[in-house]
Amino acid sequence: MTRTLSFINLRRSFTTLLLATAGYHYVEASLNSMMQANGKLYFGNIIDTNTMQGNEDGVLKGEFGMFTPEYSWKWNRIQPEKGQFHFNDSDAVMEWAEANGKQIRGHTLVWHQNIPDWVDAITDKEDLTKVIKDHINKAVGRYKGRVYAWDVVNEVFNEDGTFRDSVFYRVLGEDFIPLAFRTARDADPNAKLYINEYNLDYAGPKIDAMLNLIHRLQAQNVPIDAIGSQTHLTSGRVSEVPAQLKRLASTGLDIAVTELDIRIKRPVTPAKLQQQKGEYALVTKGCLDVPACVGISMWGVSDKNSWVKEALPAFGAPLMWDGNLRRKGAYGAVDGLLRKVGEGAEMAGAKVSVTRRHGGRRGRHGKRRLSL
Ligand code: G3I
Repeated sequence: MTRTLSFINLRRSFTTLLLATAGYHYVEASLNSMMQANGKLYFGNIIDTNTMQGNEDGVLKGEFGMFTPEYSWKWNRIQPEKGQFHFNDSDAVMEWAEANGKQIRGHTLVWHQNIPDWVDAITDKEDLTKVIKDHINKAVGRYKGRVYAWDVVNEVFNEDGTFRDSVFYRVLGEDFIPLAFRTARDADPNAKLYINEYNLDYAGPKIDAMLNLIHRLQAQNVPIDAIGSQTHLTSGRVSEVPAQLKRLASTGLDIAVTELDIRIKRPVTPAKLQQQKGEYALVTKGCLDVPACVGISMWGVSDKNSWVKEALPAFGAPLMWDGNLRRKGAYGAVDGLLRKVGEGAEMAGAKVSVTRRHGGRRGRHGKRRLSL
């Protein structure tokens, strides 16, 4: 048993002891099971060869039910050379998930980043069409019936709502999107097919462009099932998230928060961490309040291993665990919210309601109570 796991169990038993003496029955439930108790499918995170055996293993297995491969399922890893497919790492991730009773969101098939030079160099429409079809058939076909969803196309828009420059858009125009979705549907009819994008968290030309694209795809009967809003947020710029999730849901598609983190402008202070707490609760509530929102996926566990550290060094502390894998206030805010909202629902397989051992439905102070 990893050191982390023993620490978590120690905390659990201490918390249980504390609450028992206060007359509460405390049910330790994972974020995933509490999210399910709130009628959602999952609370998820990322996994890959760097974290599968790492010290985050206990938290990942203990708290989350859905996993997104952080980098090993991307084009440059799966097909670095034309016609040469490498599935060792991606297979290892799939087997880790299956061995631990977890689900996978495949990430990602067609993206302007992590594209090998041989793809970037293509200028012929027929050639690129064949290459896209072949890649999707191989990657999606390999995990057919084993993944919950695929991010079929990722980050197609610029901030002004125009299409991002990529070999796909340069050579095929907008048509690369229906091509990718139709090919993915044929390759695995059961997988939920997502378009995934960032900065859909506030009103503006980018989310408008996304909504217009969805309407065009729906008019062409393109087999798209859902919109992934990455939700890489900056603390202090979070308030519009619930409203924009509702707008995305107005398309009639499923939606999901697919890569959640809330970065804090350095220096990171207790006051800023306190603000972050409220912001994590706001985003979580934003998903809970939208029936079409199927779940939330984080983009990392410990602040120490976040992509933010290298990519955006002026920011820090974006996640729910600190560099020593201690739960932050952000975790407590999400945990508390899921518990409160989940009252009366199935949680961790047990019927849960908040009761004081001795007292009516609501305790002396109108306090909610927890009992099995
Ligand atoms: O594993 C190799 C290692 O062997 C090698 O020594 C090292 C140096 O080159 O690279 C390591 O691979 C890196 C990998 O992260 C693991 O750290 C890749 O070069 C690097 O490109 C990869 O970065 C990923 C990035 O996407 C690009 O794929 C990040 O982990 C990942 O967090 C980031 O995630 C993206 C989402 O896919 C899309 N949305 C934004 C998000 C953040 O940028």
